[in-house]
Amino acid sequence: MGASSNWSWYAALLCLLSFGAEVLCDCTPNGIEIQGGNFTLTKELTSGSLLIYSCNDGYYPYPALTRICQPNGSWKPAPKRFMPQKCKLVECPDPNVLENGDVFPLEVQYFVGNETSYECYSGYTLRGSSKRICLPNGKWSGSTPICSRDSGSACPDPGIPPGASRAGNMFEIDDKVTYICNGELFLVGSKERVCLENGQWTGTEPACYYKHTFDTPREVAESFGSAIKGTLTSTQSLDDTQEGRSIRISKNGTLNIYIGVDISESIEKDHFKTARDAVITLIEKIASFSVSPNYEIVFFSSKLYQVVNIHNFFNATVELNKVIEDLKKFEAGNTNTGTDLNMVFKHFEKQMAYIKRQAGDERFKTHRHVLILFTDGAYNMGGSPAPTVARIKNTVYMNHTVKNHVGARDDFLDIYIFAIGKVIFDDDLQPLTVGTGGDHYFRMPEPSKLKETFDSIIDESEVVGLCGLHKDYDNLENRESRKKQYPWLAFVNQGKKRKSCLGSLVSPDFVLTAAHCFTFEDEVADITVEIEDGVGSSVKRVKSFTLHPLFNLTAKVKEGVPEFYDYDLAIIRLEIPVKISDSVRPICIPCTQETSDALNLVGESTCKQQEQRLLTNSREQLSFLTKKDPLVAKKTAFAKLNENRDLCIEKALMAPGITTKDESVAVTDNFLCTGGQEYQREDIACKGDSGGAVFKNFNLRTIQIGVVSWGTRDLCSDTSSMVESNDESRDFHINLFRMIPFLSQNLGDDNENYTPLKFLKN
Ligand SMILES: *[C@@H]1O[C@H](CO)[C@@H](O)[C@H](O)[C@H]1NC(C)=O
Ligand SMILES: *[C@@H]1O[C@H](CO)[C@@H](O)[C@H](O)[C@H]1NC(C)=O
Ligand SMILES: *[C@@H]1O[C@H](CO)[C@@H](O)[C@H](O)[C@H]1NC(C)=O
Ligand SMILES: *[C@@H]1O[C@H](CO)[C@@H](O)[C@H](O)[C@H]1NC(C)=O
Ligand SMILES: *[C@@H]1O[C@H](CO)[C@@H](O)[C@H](O)[C@H]1NC(C)=O
Ligand SMILES: *[C@@H]1O[C@H](CO)[C@@H](O)[C@H](O)[C@H]1NC(C)=O
Ligand SMILES: *[C@@H]1O[C@H](CO)[C@@H](O)[C@H](O)[C@H]1NC(C)=O
Repeated sequence: MGASSNWSWYAALLCLLSFGAEVLCDCTPNGIEIQGGNFTLTKELTSGSLLIYSCNDGYYPYPALTRICQPNGSWKPAPKRFMPQKCKLVECPDPNVLENGDVFPLEVQYFVGNETSYECYSGYTLRGSSKRICLPNGKWSGSTPICSRDSGSACPDPGIPPGASRAGNMFEIDDKVTYICNGELFLVGSKERVCLENGQWTGTEPACYYKHTFDTPREVAESFGSAIKGTLTSTQSLDDTQEGRSIRISKNGTLNIYIGVDISESIEKDHFKTARDAVITLIEKIASFSVSPNYEIVFFSSKLYQVVNIHNFFNATVELNKVIEDLKKFEAGNTNTGTDLNMVFKHFEKQMAYIKRQAGDERFKTHRHVLILFTDGAYNMGGSPAPTVARIKNTVYMNHTVKNHVGARDDFLDIYIFAIGKVIFDDDLQPLTVGTGGDHYFRMPEPSKLKETFDSIIDESEVVGLCGLHKDYDNLENRESRKKQYPWLAFVNQGKKRKSCLGSLVSPDFVLTAAHCFTFEDEVADITVEIEDGVGSSVKRVKSFTLHPLFNLTAKVKEGVPEFYDYDLAIIRLEIPVKISDSVRPICIPCTQETSDALNLVGESTCKQQEQRLLTNSREQLSFLTKKDPLVAKKTAFAKLNENRDLCIEKALMAPGITTKDESVAVTDNFLCTGGQEYQREDIACKGDSGGAVFKNFNLRTIQIGVVSWGTRDLCSDTSSMVESNDESRDFHINLFRMIPFLSQNLGDDNENYTPLKFLKN
């Protein structure tokens, strides 16, 4: 921005006499330029405009991050001639706080890219990183190095994070350590930690942040991901050996999630949509866990905009889809100036009180509450939310004191704060966080990174347990996104015939496919499976394969069915289990506990309940895959059930070679029937689709219902695998609900040397 020297003079003339007595002036661009960086203005040079500086990665704006144009035409903070605005190299906090060891090199300041190494004095051993690099976000890579020796203390030496000082050198039960950050640094995490009987410290390791320090999406995804996962996946009472430890909530307990998003002016305008989309992503992610929480969702500035009312979850059933629809539809009008953060907490308190009245004290005890706030903390009305937060704690803790976590109810309340915006009021926000399971305060100046963050919270391979979990990309036409959309996809090779059939990964060791993909002569060495798990070749060797014992292609030749596909099912055991990741993960299969969890069936569920939930309509929409660039494409068809079934299977008689007059000879009750063109487009299967999963998505989980077996018409050509069904064509798929004994025998055996699937008793 080329500033002319006459600007200030013009600016003075530009002062407007507003209708009140106040004089409104424009601000001048004098002295606001930044060396090595850029700035943006939200409302040009007019009153109320926010000036936001930006620098390249590894640099931060100094001395100001932002300036605001005040009504009298002066900037706050005012630019200072002797301290010109520039982009400064990011600094990391001082690592020379290591006890019983040395830090190399010894410097006064450490900048982005600087490397340090750590060595312990003799007799001491190092925990944590021996080498660390100063990262562009103002943090050291790796973890805090700690030099300690075995002193027989109840708790391990908790160390001292860079930039901090610690008081307390005794690590026995009930001993306390406290931390402060030096100089201009401020503390994020637990200021005080207490050594527990179980040999662990309460809270989380603190860190010292500069105003320019931020958390990367990856860091937030990891720590928020594991914290929220703890809430979402805790099952029955954990086997707590500790006396008096309160029982964690059981699966059938209630989870209430309250989300508040700051849309006041101090948060930049486009960020409203960004934040809204991030919330949608978060909700979808949560839905993919085996819980169905109740939601309260509000946006706020000086006013409160309620998008989803949690009462609706208690008095009627609100579909999650409706919540997402409502969110998508919600548009914030002209946002008001002013932010009332306390109003939001008061609102959540009110909703909680209502829930408590409705549920009664006893039932309310089993409710967990998770509050998630997105804000910069720049409240300028309504006062501090701290007293309200204290009352909310009281409501949930029911006046139990939090002493050494014995009998405490602190598992039942979590308040997470996502600090967004260029200027963050950390001192006001941090004390509002509540909860012990991991970090609860995240510093993310760029709200645009929120969606990415929530998108990746389930990426970690540790959530192996969650079958069928996948990413839902609607329109991304690339191989990587396909792999993440169908992480259970496998190709079956028979000898030199590559990808002759499809299959589905059902556990790290096993792949399901059709029996007819094998010939009588096939030996184990002839068969391979293609799964790209990044470990060795993607062509995996096979340990064994088992065809369903009742599969017999020629069983009904005499009855006029030249090829009889009943029990067309096979299980392939891989020589080496595949590595689970976000692009390689098993699909859910019927009658397993995991599938009940995926379907949010609580308590002791049955196979029948699963079937009722998955195959409810007389025309049930199902999907299966076909090879198509890039990787695969999804086909859609409708299973004709109940009164529609007979008409569908009748068409089997038109298949070439079939001479029987009774369709049920060829199509037993073990088949699902799709195809035709009665209502809307249905896709028909091609040869190479055989053995693939016939599936249905439930939230972000995929459940396999069938296996593609055979069809009445071959309508496919070499060039096209996406073929529409005609009036006569029908496909028949093995219904896995009818194959349970075979599946549980081969996949659920506790005594075999693999991780068994847990099949339901009924
Ligand atoms: C400043 O803006 C210019 C042009 O938009 C861009 O090329 C440059 O990378 C920006 N620099 C910084 C530090 O953001
Ligand atoms: C402009 O207003 C602010 C606060 O309203 C005040 O602190 C400042 O001194 C004023 N500046 C001038 C130049 O009048
Ligand atoms: C640390 O980084 C700064 C800035 O890049 C550089 O000037 C300095 O030489 C580095 N120090 C060491 C010891 O590498
Ligand atoms: C949750 O389930 C357990 C056992 O399955 C039962 O004892 C308890 O009453 C249930 N709680 C609620 C709130 O339904
Ligand atoms: C459910 O609660 C909402 C909000 O309090 C209310 O508007 C609605 O009328 C209630 N519905 C029923 C069926 O009670
Ligand atoms: C908790 O304590 C407050 C004040 O000490 C009291 O008013 C309230 O009734 C108590 N609540 C419960 C659930 O005991
Ligand atoms: C398949 O069925 C035919 C006709 O019933 C029978 O002869 C044959 O032995 C069966 N094959 C196997 C492997 O059971």
